[in-house]
Amino acid sequence: MLKSAGNGLREVPFPVSDPERIPVQRYFDEEFYRAELEHLWPHVWQNACRLEQIPDVGDWIEYSNIGKSVIVVCTEEGIKAFHNACRHRGVPFAGGQSLDKDYSSAFGNCSKKGFVCPFHGWAWNMDGQSTRVYGKHLLSDRQLDPDDVNLVPCRVDTWGGCVWINLDNDAPSVRESLGQVTEDFDFHGVDDLRAEWHYATVLPANWKIAMEAFMEGYHVMQTHPQLFDASPSMYANMYEDEGARGMEGNITERPRVASEAFDIKEAIDAQIHSFQLLSDGMAGMIHQKEVDILRAMPIDNLPDDPGQAIAMWFGMGMRAVTDELRARGEPCPDILEVSQSHPVSAVQFFFPHYFLLPTFASMSAYRIRPLGPEKCFFEIWSLTTYAEEPDPVMEPTVLPYNSIEFPMIPRQDYSNIPIQQAGMHAQGFEFMRLSKDVEGMISNYQRIIDGYLKGLPVEKLNAAIHELRLNFDGPIKDLDL
Ligand code: FES
Ligand SMILES: [Fe+2]
Repeated sequence: MLKSAGNGLREVPFPVSDPERIPVQRYFDEEFYRAELEHLWPHVWQNACRLEQIPDVGDWIEYSNIGKSVIVVCTEEGIKAFHNACRHRGVPFAGGQSLDKDYSSAFGNCSKKGFVCPFHGWAWNMDGQSTRVYGKHLLSDRQLDPDDVNLVPCRVDTWGGCVWINLDNDAPSVRESLGQVTEDFDFHGVDDLRAEWHYATVLPANWKIAMEAFMEGYHVMQTHPQLFDASPSMYANMYEDEGARGMEGNITERPRVASEAFDIKEAIDAQIHSFQLLSDGMAGMIHQKEVDILRAMPIDNLPDDPGQAIAMWFGMGMRAVTDELRARGEPCPDILEVSQSHPVSAVQFFFPHYFLLPTFASMSAYRIRPLGPEKCFFEIWSLTTYAEEPDPVMEPTVLPYNSIEFPMIPRQDYSNIPIQQAGMHAQGFEFMRLSKDVEGMISNYQRIIDGYLKGLPVEKLNAAIHELRLNFDGPIKDLDL
């Protein structure tokens, strides 16, 4: 229980008082973790499942987080969700194993039998209405009031090809909470994407450490050298100051692709190579079919100016991917048009625990759930377009975080996350020092978390969340929190 700060707000343990410095205790302290369980998670929209996992009436799937299980159901009247506890003596009426395991995977169809509690057989239909109280006469009338026996509904919404739940019945809609970015992604066709694979792992790290590993591109040079090597001049322009360019041993040791005499063919080959690496590593982030379309595209009539030539080639690539996917009958937005009308970040976060990585039509998706102060469940989906509805991916393939079966890019990220968590406990390390220019999102995120812990009004919190739009690799903002 957090203390009152005396102004109607709560006192936050280890608050972010300097936006460029994040106190280490926020990543392992038990009291801070409990404060998040009590004041953050019960008020935010949580990504519960993909819509394609429950396509038919009666289909249900369990989602659990912070020790709470929710059952999401497809009904005649649309998607509903219920808190997973029998109204008699609290046994989960479906699934329930995930409460003491690391993740949820229960699913089924209740259209014939509804939900039946495994303890004494009370039952409900898919709309949560009681259909049987075994031995009714044994209970007082007041215990049989519909409000006492029907399932307790949970706030639910849909957006972006997913179902979202919120434990707070008064929460504004997903769209109102997340803001303009939901519309941006509508234009990018996020509803039409389907999962082609789903991997998961348990990381020995605080959930925020895991999220923050994806909030900037500053780590690419050291963590993903293969990506850096494919476009060194791009990364040099973004992160190196003029004087240092070419001086730091680690950077100059790697071969540079950019040459003095600009060769458009060489530059485009390098770009395609870089996309191929992303595709090999992340599938949906840039799908192999998209790389193949780019590779097959003729490259005549480009201007002599290198910057203009690459920009024009990129635009032509967006056109070619759009045309080719549409010709195959796959749902695809006009990628070039929407990239201008509704620009999105290379990594877009949906506070607090979901993010998308779009490039052309396909995307990668990530979701993170805490399993304790220093442990989290980490999932990745490759999402892409299909001409016909594919079979849904119902469960993740769960691997150890250092498994060589993981694609290379997440494996590289996972190699840092657990050791970074260990570093939080080192003597003399008191706070993370952030770049105000490119690691601002970490600070912005952490200060929004403080807003929840303090108990700020939802309008204020949502206004700050809206500031995370296009904030990947971006600056610390004044969030008015
Ligand atoms: S606990 Fe569910 S029927 Fe008794
Ligand atoms: Fe990374």
